[in-house]
Amino acid sequence: MNILILQGSPRANGSTAWMAEECKKAAEAAGHNVILVNVARKKIAGCLACEYCHTKGNGACIQQDDMQELYPLMNEADVLVLAAPIYYFTLCAQIQAPIQRMYCVNNPAKVKKMALLMSSYSPGVYDGATAEYRDICHYWNAEDCGIITAKNDEQKTDAIKQKIVDLVANI
Ligand SMILES: Cc1cc2nc3c(=O)[nH]c(=O)nc-3n(C[C@H](O)[C@H](O)[C@H](O)COP(=O)(O)O)c2cc1C
Repeated sequence: MNILILQGSPRANGSTAWMAEECKKAAEAAGHNVILVNVARKKIAGCLACEYCHTKGNGACIQQDDMQELYPLMNEADVLVLAAPIYYFTLCAQIQAPIQRMYCVNNPAKVKKMALLMSSYSPGVYDGATAEYRDICHYWNAEDCGIITAKNDEQKTDAIKQKIVDLVANI
């Protein structure tokens, strides 16, 4: 399957980037075709709500930023993995932006499965992000293949690596 991993942390050597990379390695080992995009390094603005896409644009977004290179990847993906640090009790803005920019086409064309990888400092801070993710799975008719969280003392451990391998086996 085509798996697209969106990694939203600006920290290249952080826990989220590590989880995304481990997910990529496990998915490739299982024979999937994997693309990993660090969206924190991209210029992706928020949706303007201008409705150009739904009026004159025929589903195309008027904003000419790095989202334009992500649209074809989103629409070719069978599986979408979101990897994000928790910022203020929710998914970081870098992940929110590309999700909300899908407004122009409503949903990624082929995505049937999703998964969520999250990092935080504290325990017990995932409820908001988890609820949002589950609502998006439901809205996009995608099966939830699993959620993995890594608080400060769990990050980059063998236990998290094993959870990622198990999640990928579930895809
Ligand atoms: C702007 C900002 C907001 C944060 N908010 C939270 C928070 O609400 N709860 C929490 O436990 N950690 C919070 N953190 C800490 C990060 O989630 C934590 O350091 C995480 O491991 C970062 O992952 P990364 O290294 O992959 O970027 C915040 C960090 C930043 C920079």
